[in-house]
Amino acid sequence: MFAFKASAQQGTHMFRAKILSKCAFRRKMSSRLVLGIETSCDETGAAVMDETGLILGESLHSQKEVHLKTGGIIPTVAQRLHRENIGRIVQEAMERSGVTQSQLSAVATTVKPGLALSLGIGLDFSLNFVKLHQKPFIPIHHMEAHALTVRMLQPVVFPFLVLLVSGGHSLLALARGIDDFLLLGQTLDEAPGDTMDKVARRLSLIKHPKCSMISGGQAIEILARDGNRLKFLFKPPMGAHYDCNFSFAGLRNQVTMSIQKKEEEEGVEQGTLLSCVNDIAAATQHAVASHIAKRTHRAILFCKAKDLLPSCNPTLVVSGGVASNQYIRKILKIVTDTTGLHLLCPPSKFCTDNGVMIAWNGVERLREGKGILSHTEEVNYEPKQRTHEDLPDRQVRQAQRDEVPEDFGVEVEGGQLHDVVALAVPPPPVGSRGQHVVQGLHG
Ligand code: KG4
Ligand code: ZN
Repeated sequence: MFAFKASAQQGTHMFRAKILSKCAFRRKMSSRLVLGIETSCDETGAAVMDETGLILGESLHSQKEVHLKTGGIIPTVAQRLHRENIGRIVQEAMERSGVTQSQLSAVATTVKPGLALSLGIGLDFSLNFVKLHQKPFIPIHHMEAHALTVRMLQPVVFPFLVLLVSGGHSLLALARGIDDFLLLGQTLDEAPGDTMDKVARRLSLIKHPKCSMISGGQAIEILARDGNRLKFLFKPPMGAHYDCNFSFAGLRNQVTMSIQKKEEEEGVEQGTLLSCVNDIAAATQHAVASHIAKRTHRAILFCKAKDLLPSCNPTLVVSGGVASNQYIRKILKIVTDTTGLHLLCPPSKFCTDNGVMIAWNGVERLREGKGILSHTEEVNYEPKQRTHEDLPDRQVRQAQRDEVPEDFGVEVEGGQLHDVVALAVPPPPVGSRGQHVVQGLHG
């Protein structure tokens, strides 16, 4: 269903699974090698990669289970867990790769954006490492790494449109080069993964037998499969805002109020599993998916109207933890099919945080000779300083108001801005309420 060529995917998995062949071994020795380190949030990841994108060794420690129990990430706990695991994770990645420290060409590490205490552990470790082994250092922007991971798996030429949706981010950007992103839209409040995590917590899904060990977003997706989204009607966000920004906080508020109402109707306390959790999950997932799809559709139409995408193989890349949601992927596929774009979603394991994506970004920078530091005295980490800036690089230019006119998308190629989601995923025919949902998607 997705445009990844089978050969590219299988190739990657084969590379990862097999012991290095003689040919790969020779390639490894002749190629420049990068160690990538990720600690921006709740995953401690490391990977060693050669210049061709071949993963020689990797290791990952996830803190998700711990944070699930405490009902969210406590930064000091995340910091402690990174500190406890980073040495082992880097050592494992190095050992699995069969590469020695002296053979490395550079160390690439996430320095922004993220949780300050988490970023600090990865950066301190890396700076000590490069000092000890006399290696160049490549500071990595976490969101740029997410955006470019797809190029490790297959050749995707610039420019392409990228949608990043995770627990901390929601943005649409035109990727024009490895350090050149035109930001088209971003969340004005919270990210979709965060919204689903909070809804899952409010529903106490951790008590649900199918959901006790998984993230809120995954729980919503699993329960939604057995739910009827038409049982709850959530007004889609930002209906009157004709731009490419996102907003999920108002939607979460609507969901919370519906949960409260249901608890009152059923006469149960907050914290009790409601009988209608599947329906609430389905309606929430649909509302999130529709909002993401509509903003993405608008961004595609904008790029087309401004001739920003190549006429040959225009591509939408989707990544971030929420991109592993199959329902959201399905709706985005409808959007790209309707607009003639290719949809590329890296496999789930590369959508979520890991050391591989950081190593790959290091490789891309090494190849282009960009951002490689031999002196690290000035290097510091940069947590998310301003709430709504996901791609705060100097190179990033926010599309100006006049570049995205208010009425943009209403008249494109002589037609109306179709609501492809409503057209392609009609709700089951349940009378006027169903009709209302279809209409509710417009705007
Ligand atoms: O990219 P990621 O691993 O970490 C960051 O947030 O940077 O994404 C984690 C987020 C969580 O909010 C989680 O609930 C969400 O991605 N997520 C999903 C799914 N799997 C993970 N959301 C919806 N559907 C999923 N299948
Ligand atoms: Zn991430």
